[in-house]
Amino acid sequence: MGVQTAPVHRRGFISLRGVTKSYKTGAGEVAVLKGVDLDFERGEFVAIIGKSGSGKSTLINMLTGIDRPTAGEVWVGDTPVHTLSEGQMAVWRGRNLGIVFQFFQLLPMLSLVENVMLPMDFCNMYSTRQRRERAMRLLELVDMSEHAHKLPSALSGGQQQRVAIARALANDPPVIVADEPTGNLDSKTAEAVFALFQQLTAQGKTLIMVTHDSSLAQRAGRTVLIADGEIVNEYVARALPTLTHQQMLHATRRLKPMHFPAGATILQEDTHGDHFFIVTGGTANVFLRRPGASDVMVASYGPGQYFGEIEALRGGKWRATIRAAPDTPVDVVALDRETFVQLLAESDATRQIIEQVVQSRLAENVASRL
Ligand SMILES: Nc1ncnc2c1ncn2[C@@H]1O[C@H](COP(=O)(O)OP(=O)(O)OP(=O)(O)O)[C@@H](O)[C@H]1O
Ligand SMILES: [Mg+2]
Repeated sequence: MGVQTAPVHRRGFISLRGVTKSYKTGAGEVAVLKGVDLDFERGEFVAIIGKSGSGKSTLINMLTGIDRPTAGEVWVGDTPVHTLSEGQMAVWRGRNLGIVFQFFQLLPMLSLVENVMLPMDFCNMYSTRQRRERAMRLLELVDMSEHAHKLPSALSGGQQQRVAIARALANDPPVIVADEPTGNLDSKTAEAVFALFQQLTAQGKTLIMVTHDSSLAQRAGRTVLIADGEIVNEYVARALPTLTHQQMLHATRRLKPMHFPAGATILQEDTHGDHFFIVTGGTANVFLRRPGASDVMVASYGPGQYFGEIEALRGGKWRATIRAAPDTPVDVVALDRETFVQLLAESDATRQIIEQVVQSRLAENVASRL
């Protein structure tokens, strides 16, 4: 297989760079993915969420090579998936990816053990004898070995999905990709599938799962939210969860990333301020000046927490000094005041929450300066 040198801008184990997917329709060209940049690390358990039609399956299909980007790059490990021919793709996919679908897609005329052996047959990965033994072990792993010789039609949906997961593991791929794997299962069975995925990530597999189930998504290691074919900044989604996906996306487009070395001053009390900040890495410490005494540290904010909301909402100079913790650099994303105020005007729920935070932080500050 033609292995190319990795470009320097690559980051994660799995990496999408500027991935665009458009379809020609009667009404003209429709962009379904709009320049997606995304990285996944080895061993990550990622849930991909978003409204129906937002582009989740399209995104997943870029990773599996089931579909190809109109522009941009998709790397899985050292493989430039976007450049593979159909033949290369099939071989690469068979060895490197386990794919789990919403509707299981077991072959109806093959027994369960034969279904699990199929990817091994296709990729010629193990000897014929090893294939059967391995398939039986995988069926044991998903608690289905007693049914090994039955046909899929004899099983419930949950049982079929467990077999589909065993099949996905057939060639011991480093990456498992699942599009709504629990979408057709009751909540108890969905829970069992989720637990199986957790177990696989604990063993070092990288798991990427599209789901509509927000409670399951929250329990994955990381959630990626997609809206209208674009990735919402995860810290915006965490800090301002009551915004609509559209509003989160609007904020995402306006963000300015900023980096501060350990101990650096991020903003200085009594100077003019007009941004709202969300911490994306490290720890930001909040200090208040006290008349005739040394500054007092009143709070610490980590990733997903924010500051600057008082000034962004009410205007005026910074009411505190914020510094990067002495031992860690801090990364933030900054949102201009105009955008912030506009979002709060559009989202009552968010404005109420922020107002409450402002009230309690101001009260704390008054108490701390005494
Ligand atoms: N082959 C195609 N031709 C034209 N448009 C398409 C094609 N495939 C997908 N789309 C459009 O792309 C958009 C995203 O579809 P996609 O299936 O990725 O959404 P999704 O987030 O997976 O939705 P769902 O939650 O309903 O599964 C939709 O508007 C869909 O109509
Ligand atoms: Mg879909």
